Amino acid sequence: MHFMTRIIGVDPFSIAEAAAVLRRGGLVAFPTETVYGLGANALDPAAVERIFAAKGRPRTNPVIVHVAGVDQVPLVADLRALTQPGSPEFVARLAERFWPGPLTLVLPKTAVVPDIVTAGGPTVAVRVPAHPIALALLRAVGVPLAAPSANRSSELSPTTAEHVLHGLEGRIDLILDGGPTSGGIESTVLDLTTHPPRLLRPGLVTPQQIEAVIGPITRRSEPEASATVWKTVANASGSVLRSPGMTAKHYAPRAPLELVDDDGRSRVEALAGDRRPIGWLTWPGMSDVAGSIRVEMPADPPGYAARLYAALHDLDAAGVERIVVAQPPDDEEWLAIRDRLRRAAWG
Ligand code: TXA
Ligand code: MG
Repeated sequence: MHFMTRIIGVDPFSIAEAAAVLRRGGLVAFPTETVYGLGANALDPAAVERIFAAKGRPRTNPVIVHVAGVDQVPLVADLRALTQPGSPEFVARLAERFWPGPLTLVLPKTAVVPDIVTAGGPTVAVRVPAHPIALALLRAVGVPLAAPSANRSSELSPTTAEHVLHGLEGRIDLILDGGPTSGGIESTVLDLTTHPPRLLRPGLVTPQQIEAVIGPITRRSEPEASATVWKTVANASGSVLRSPGMTAKHYAPRAPLELVDDDGRSRVEALAGDRRPIGWLTWPGMSDVAGSIRVEMPADPPGYAARLYAALHDLDAAGVERIVVAQPPDDEEWLAIRDRLRRAAWG
């Protein structure tokens, strides 16, 4: 497969052109408020196949379906099949509070959703993105868009059009360049087909924010570095489950990444030599260490999330030998960031 990948700025003409590419089964990368997505017509299995081919994504990993508004959810999700106590209500309340926005809901799928989208499973993951370009594109194309992050499988998610081009040049038709994304890490994925609802992937919407709207949810126990073990906290039943696609090695930079419990200085000093530089993600107010590239990360979770992938992309581009990261606090506000860092450090 080889394409001329074009990168275009955003105006009404480019939105119309992107919609036309999507309608004929092509692939278009576009900005969302989290990361860039790689979109295809979610109702066209051949188009969605192309996403998997372009990313080198295993077919066992289902993709998120994006719709323009909550009114389009019934097209892809069968809300009547949601029989768990409270669940249909939960959809309405969560949509009201968080959509458009970085929350993805796992719901029973309708018959129009092709198997390739859901990895053959009975559920579909849906969200309404908050980015004006994503919404304009969804409205222009008039069909739901399957869109995983626009990166090669197991590499870093893209937060700029340049990141997308770097990873997928020649493999996709078009990139809509809307500048850097503001959120920086992927949406929160919440499964509403279980009782209580279960957090499958921590993200920009925190568990506390969700619980304030629908009451207790089940969350993954954080220390599981294997990332395949999920524990029921809310009802203490101890059930152990697997989430499709949540493989441990994911979101990884090319350079090996290690997490340290302090600010990282002593580890960076020990590693820095006169060969390639050591990348160092740390907090504001540190001084440089010779032989390292120091990146001051914001001390608040939203600021950190917005910068994280771009910082790792930059360090890879600078050819660092290793990346040392000062681990953020073990605190629920940092859950999603700690999750992504742990995956980046895997292996
Ligand atoms: O922020 C985001 O969610 C970005 C932007 C582009 O919207 N998209 C994204 O998609 O991160 P992706 O494909 O990289 O992540 C999809 C994740 C999978 O890892 C999987 O765990 C979960 O969503 N997922 C998708 N469909 C699912 C399903 N039917 N059941 C359970 N989990 C599902
Ligand atoms: Mg991804």
